[in-house]
Amino acid sequence: MNKFLLFLFAFVLTYSSFAQTLLYKDKNAATEKRVEDLLKRMTLEEKIFQMNQWAYGQNTNENNFEDKVRDLKPEIGSLIYRSQSPVFRNQIQKKAMEETRLGIPILMGFDVIHGFRTVFPIPLAQACSWNPDLVKQACHIAAKEAKLSGVDWTFSPMIDVARDARWGRVSEGYGEDSYTNAVFCVAAVNGYQGEKLTDKYSIAACLKHYIGYSLSEGGRDYQYSDVSGQTLWETFMPPYEAGVKAGVATLMSGFNDLSGVPASANHYTLTEVLKERWGHDGFVVSDWGSVQQLIQQGVAKDKKECALKSLMAGVEMDMVDNVYLENLKQLVDEGKVPVATIDEAVRRILRVKFRLGLFDNPYVEELPESKRYLQPEDRKVAAEIAAESMVLLKNTNNTLPITSAIKNIALIGPMVMDSVHIMGFWEGYGNSKDAESIFEGFSKEFNGKATLNYAKGCDFDGKNEDGFAEAVQAAAKSDVIVLCLGEKRNWSGENGVRSTLALPAIQEKLVAELKKTGKPIVLVLSSGRPLELIRLEPMADAILEIWQPGTDGGSATAGIISGRINPSGKLSITFPLATGQIPIYYNMRQSSRPWLGKYQDIPSLPLYWFGHGLSYTTYNYGEVKLSATQIKKNQTLVAEVEVSNNGNVDGKETVLWFISDPVATISRPMKELKYFEKKMLKAGEKSIYRFEIVPERDLSFTDSNGKRYVESGDYFVIVNNQKVKFELVD
Ligand code: BGC
Repeated sequence: MNKFLLFLFAFVLTYSSFAQTLLYKDKNAATEKRVEDLLKRMTLEEKIFQMNQWAYGQNTNENNFEDKVRDLKPEIGSLIYRSQSPVFRNQIQKKAMEETRLGIPILMGFDVIHGFRTVFPIPLAQACSWNPDLVKQACHIAAKEAKLSGVDWTFSPMIDVARDARWGRVSEGYGEDSYTNAVFCVAAVNGYQGEKLTDKYSIAACLKHYIGYSLSEGGRDYQYSDVSGQTLWETFMPPYEAGVKAGVATLMSGFNDLSGVPASANHYTLTEVLKERWGHDGFVVSDWGSVQQLIQQGVAKDKKECALKSLMAGVEMDMVDNVYLENLKQLVDEGKVPVATIDEAVRRILRVKFRLGLFDNPYVEELPESKRYLQPEDRKVAAEIAAESMVLLKNTNNTLPITSAIKNIALIGPMVMDSVHIMGFWEGYGNSKDAESIFEGFSKEFNGKATLNYAKGCDFDGKNEDGFAEAVQAAAKSDVIVLCLGEKRNWSGENGVRSTLALPAIQEKLVAELKKTGKPIVLVLSSGRPLELIRLEPMADAILEIWQPGTDGGSATAGIISGRINPSGKLSITFPLATGQIPIYYNMRQSSRPWLGKYQDIPSLPLYWFGHGLSYTTYNYGEVKLSATQIKKNQTLVAEVEVSNNGNVDGKETVLWFISDPVATISRPMKELKYFEKKMLKAGEKSIYRFEIVPERDLSFTDSNGKRYVESGDYFVIVNNQKVKFELVD
């Protein structure tokens, strides 16, 4: 063998044995071993790169004004990936895999909040469906469409229990109740993450905004929030704890304060609770610039201190502001940040990348758009969830459904032709061209059955009344007025704050004008929050809240109006009578003088409570039966109620089971939702709904540090209008 061949042979042998020793590249090795192997090969600079996220592509969120498209450094840990192109993603990923020393894949994140291209209703609406299975399916479809476009990770679900609907982000969560948020959180996490993170269409989920963000003072986004320990544990923690138990990969720390200690610098919530108590081993990403914002929040004097505070509190990845990238090395050199802290942060980030299978399958399939999006079976789910989340709030004299006897329908209002606002905020890559407007839905639904007399009437806001006369004419020609009003998409969502929940005066005026025609009025309302209907409700014969129902909202709306679909939604949030009642929610505590303290100018009760929602059929509730009147703390009590569908149409009825604990060491809300179940009941059919009460889970309460107590005494099960007593003994 000549010398050259010998050299070549030796080179190949060395190289291949080197390659073999790269344990982190071995698919069959255990994740933890791979993480440790990779970690020990990394330089400090490489580690710090992993702890940063940049935004790449086009900015679609007008609130994130500082976004810049940077020259991509393939060593970066993560990107907010703003593109729909799998080809582009694969090119970026190729750079990371092939042009960096260790070939660490980039984690591509994006806000897939209620769909990617097929847009589902906003989450607040989804919760009104009381159908977690459907929500799980919707999230899985969103994950599939996102994955096929290059996304590995969604910043969803948002589970900030929200009770001040002036705050626009109320639309992004599952309403005012903690248990409801917990149930839908688990459904969403399971939908996005699938059985395994390595499954073909799984993406990592992210619980946000940890924690207490919805308490922004005055409902104004980014304001100070004062969160007591009791509220933190009783109201805000349960959905997060449920999501962590369900195996969520990541969490996002909020913009807000927790009584003076910002959520993105809060060692108690980020480390003591999340990591030490709950054992979460994924990572926390900051919200957009929330590390740097510690300066505005008054706890850091400069960016370096921001980096120190956030990292030491437990934020592993810095979203877009480069504060970690620019300061961590120096902080390590100065001995202020231990290398072990950096290692632990990077370990968590790598763990998620390995769990997603990114090292072994860094690239995504490159399919044409027609195979990626809007598949007919997925749109069916979108139409179904849109319909199930709509809530029939009022229906005097069976104004709805519009029967075949009606031959002329006036279809009026700024929402009728809309296909933009119907998608809601955070619509992903939803395209208004794909969305079905209410007009299109009605045209199909009533084709050959009734004439539609359309008039816009007025705009969403402004003062122009020029369209009123045409609207009145359309009404005059018709037997019924379907008046479609509502909010624009950016009146809710991030930074979408309103000082009032009322619709703009011009829309209210249009209703008053049309009322004068004497024709029955069906109000169809599209909004990202509950609305103030104090003036509108008395003028309407029927009211259907359709929220922002997404791409398939038009047909769902028309289907309910025509009676093809029987509405089954119930409110996940209370509709106050007037904005001044805020905060008002079903699980308030008892007033110390319930007979006093009323408003002088308006009634003190809301217009529609949480849980309200009508149907085209009538359900009769039998007597609630308990398996015992007294149980011990280690026993289970079974509560049952028979519900019958007494009407002529099939329907889905949700039974909401509440518990009341009137006397406890720490006072309890007047009632708390503990379980719900939705079932299909055919006309004439009856069924038994059952709730197994487990004291530890359903009768316990927490103190301000999360310690749980179960106390003996009297309790009540509340269903519909029934309240049945039982006793818990030691
Ligand atoms: C929002 C987050 C979002 C992030 C990334 C922030 O402005 O508060 O909810 O996930 O931007 O787009």
